[in-house]
Amino acid sequence: MRSGRNNGLVIAIDGPSGAGKSTLTRLLAQRLGYIHIDTGAMYRTLALAVSRSGLPLDDEAAVAALCGGIEIRFRRDDGGYRVIANGEDVSLAIRTPEISMLTSQISAQGGVREILLKLQHEMGREGGVILEGRDIGTVVFPDAEVKFFLSATPLERGQRRFLELRDKGVQATLEDTVAAVVQRDEQDAARELAPLKKAPDAVEIDSTGITIEEVLSRMEQLVRERVPSP
Ligand code: DC
Repeated sequence: MRSGRNNGLVIAIDGPSGAGKSTLTRLLAQRLGYIHIDTGAMYRTLALAVSRSGLPLDDEAAVAALCGGIEIRFRRDDGGYRVIANGEDVSLAIRTPEISMLTSQISAQGGVREILLKLQHEMGREGGVILEGRDIGTVVFPDAEVKFFLSATPLERGQRRFLELRDKGVQATLEDTVAAVVQRDEQDAARELAPLKKAPDAVEIDSTGITIEEVLSRMEQLVRERVPSP
């Protein structure tokens, strides 16, 4: 294997919320037979634990100590995955608008990022994986063999998020969802540690007004061009 990894390549997919990362990562992983690692879900899982604990966010040492005790697993399920934290299925609980905002806040803390960086390295280093997040191509796997940066206009991203939430039965208005998406992206891009940023060698795809199928074919073609038989 050209990459020197045992199971295949590392593919990094970064971008702001609602850019289509989750859907595209899931579909691309299915096409390539790769494992999908949703790093946002990992940050969300820690945020849920912090929220339940009632710890003050500014006690970074206590937050990191709590997060270090949480075992996060993905359980494959019917083409998708469930998120398991210390044995509990938290897949739905981590998707509320409140947890989204809290996640964006705690993911700015160095202690929290250190814990997940280590875990994500362990999960991905043998390859055969697609990781989606904000800092995969810049910090987690700067040596990823293929990198994408997905974008779309704030309105389109907010609309997608709104539809996702509605499908999951989460109460939200379109206006609030667009505003929350914009606020979260500003926070994620402005933070000091591992901010949301396109890696210089990432291929940027703006999916505004393009179907998922079209973006997916472009991505798959690019992966296959770079690697004859992934
Ligand atoms: O992709 P998502 O919306 O589930 O991510 C939730 C939050 O987690 C996002 O606002 C920022 C943070 N995050 C991060 O800081 N680094 C990552 N690699 C993934 C997510």
